[in-house]
Amino acid sequence: MTLPKHIAIIMDGNGRWAQLKRRPRTFGHIKGTRVAKKIITDCSRRGIKNLTLYAFSTENWFRPQAEVSLLMQILRRYLKRETENLVKENIRFSVIGDMSRIPADVAEAIGKSVEATAQCTGLNLVFALSYGSRQEITEAVRDIAARVAAGEINPEDIDESVINSALSTYPTPDPDLIIRTSGEQRLSNFLLWQAAYSEFYFTDVLWPNFTECHLEEALNAFSMRQRRFGKVTANDNVEKLSN
Ligand code: IPE
Ligand code: IPE
Ligand code: MG
Repeated sequence: MTLPKHIAIIMDGNGRWAQLKRRPRTFGHIKGTRVAKKIITDCSRRGIKNLTLYAFSTENWFRPQAEVSLLMQILRRYLKRETENLVKENIRFSVIGDMSRIPADVAEAIGKSVEATAQCTGLNLVFALSYGSRQEITEAVRDIAARVAAGEINPEDIDESVINSALSTYPTPDPDLIIRTSGEQRLSNFLLWQAAYSEFYFTDVLWPNFTECHLEEALNAFSMRQRRFGKVTANDNVEKLSN
């Protein structure tokens, strides 16, 4: 079975899951965090090299203050509890996104986890947090423009690799597989540049109900996909045009 080198997941549906149970949305986020923990371990044990989890978007800041601050505290608590396990599992943790907006106590917990796991060589686990792809691209453009203004590079030297390495995801390879739960079929500002040739897998399962078996289904579906990257495969019958 061909395994993706990089899986990215849009963990969606926590609020609806809680609503179905007539509980507050934050109840769904707490369950969702437990699911994330399981899926991280599962990916690590399967030998997946890179896993990016969309945990909080730049647009999610516009949610009610109470939900936002609870989400931040759930994250802080998760990191405090889990860092030791991450080290044990040889998982390296990092984040992408606008950290300037993250509350100080949460930023501190993130810093500690990043530091504690820095030498780990197994799964590269990335949380997209306060992340928006348009913001990421905007910043990359600004950086490159500054380097041009400083005379470090010429405009004609700007190619795809220059842009790629100015993005926050660098040097993680592009995601091979993007999974979105909860039935929504959109990117919601996630990895716009990096998703150019990703395979998409959408499932109606709400994130708090997502299990290792659902991940297995996604991996099976991925291994059946024929990725062409715009080319034709060797056994494609290319008919010749006779004049
Ligand atoms: C995903 O679940 C988690 C975050 C965006 C933080 P939602 O909170 O978006 O849940 P739904 O989509 O409202 O059900
Ligand atoms: C995307 O989910 C962001 C995360 C899963 C963290 P949203 O629930 O915020 O996206 P929309 O609003 O349905 O597009
Ligand atoms: Mg949602």
